[in-house]
Amino acid sequence: MTFTLPPLPYAYDALGSYMSKETLEYHHDKHHQAYVTNGNNALKGTEWEGKSLEEIVKGSFGKNPAVFNNAGQHYNHIHFWKWMKPGGGGNMPGDLEKQIIADFGSVAKMKEDFIQAGVTQFGSGWCWLAVRIGKIEVMKTPNGESPLVHGARPILGCDVWEHSYYIDYRNRRPDYLKVFVDNLVNWDYVAEMYEAAR
Ligand SMILES: [Fe+2]
Repeated sequence: MTFTLPPLPYAYDALGSYMSKETLEYHHDKHHQAYVTNGNNALKGTEWEGKSLEEIVKGSFGKNPAVFNNAGQHYNHIHFWKWMKPGGGGNMPGDLEKQIIADFGSVAKMKEDFIQAGVTQFGSGWCWLAVRIGKIEVMKTPNGESPLVHGARPILGCDVWEHSYYIDYRNRRPDYLKVFVDNLVNWDYVAEMYEAAR
């Protein structure tokens, strides 16, 4: 398959001051587009040409950095746009909430652990909620890695590369993570990925 850039699922100014039009224009149109373009170039002539994106991400990890870095980031960003929505945050579907309470004790504790993972990811990377053998856990990964290459299935991820927050939050990564969790997360899409992963 050839990678293509999916359109942003809402208007560039839809997330208001939580994530600005300028950030989304650069992040989606420039950064994600670069992963698509460079990924397609890196794939040419490799054994992963014609494979699904997930097969490419898992298969190239540790074997072909040029393919993996771009395919990994393409996968992460496809979902990242959908893990946010205007008027996000708030309540989550009941089945997901039940599992989070079972695994973390409370929704508040899950949010605290998720933010802490993002704050403590040294340098560029992602923090995650992921499903591993029926349980939800918090993870963090560097660069373009995701739970997919560490034996789990991602159901929520937050991009903590500086390109995701520096225009709006400068060096205040903790503030960006708190806003992401409280005001941006599309819990319906998280629940959809949870149902598919369990
Ligand atoms: Fe990004």
